[in-house]
Amino acid sequence: MTTNATLSIRCFDASDTDAVVALWQNAFPEYRDVTKPQRNPHLSIANKLATQPELFFVAVLGERIVGTVMGGYDGHRGWLYSLAVDESLRRHGIGTRLVAHVEAVLTERGCPKLNLQVLSAKADVRAFYEALGYRADAVISLGKRLGELADPAPAV
Ligand SMILES: CC(C)(COP(=O)(O)OP(=O)(O)OC[C@H]1O[C@@H](n2cnc3c(N)ncnc32)[C@H](O)[C@@H]1OP(=O)(O)O)[C@@H](O)C(=O)NCCC(=O)NCCS
Repeated sequence: MTTNATLSIRCFDASDTDAVVALWQNAFPEYRDVTKPQRNPHLSIANKLATQPELFFVAVLGERIVGTVMGGYDGHRGWLYSLAVDESLRRHGIGTRLVAHVEAVLTERGCPKLNLQVLSAKADVRAFYEALGYRADAVISLGKRLGELADPAPAV
């Protein structure tokens, strides 16, 4: 890293919102895609602040937000979401630190397994997780949108 500042990981604070949204808009092209209204960073933040906000973490270098990660634990499995590192600071171990932080917090809660999803087109991200010991499970991922953004019901 080109700075002497120390990296720390702490819980997200509402005052981090603008910096986190800017980071996500750069790291996740979906957040800039107007055809995907479900990818709304402000809504994602609001939803997380309403559900296990203590599992939303930011990496801070000096005063600067340089990474994010969200965890979740439903009592059966843990989940990891919204991992992102500032593009200018990748390959310096920040992503590894963020994942390790969530793993430690969920392990402390008794979580036996951490799951995550990676877009199949993102081979580099898969390589990152494999370097951290994550392996593909023999499952397919199914999903269904609920509420206002639900898909139309199939014809019967
Ligand atoms: C995935 C991401 C968080 C990794 O963060 P990072 O801080 O660069 O990762 P680290 O420096 O901790 O990388 C650890 C190891 O993972 C592997 N790795 C990381 N990025 C990689 C890449 N682009 N290609 C291949 N391997 C990679 C390497 O083995 C690396 O170790 P090395 O640098 O000593 O070779 C970052 O690339 C990112 O923000 N991507 C965009 C957002 C995104 O897609 N997030 C995932 C959502 S599921």
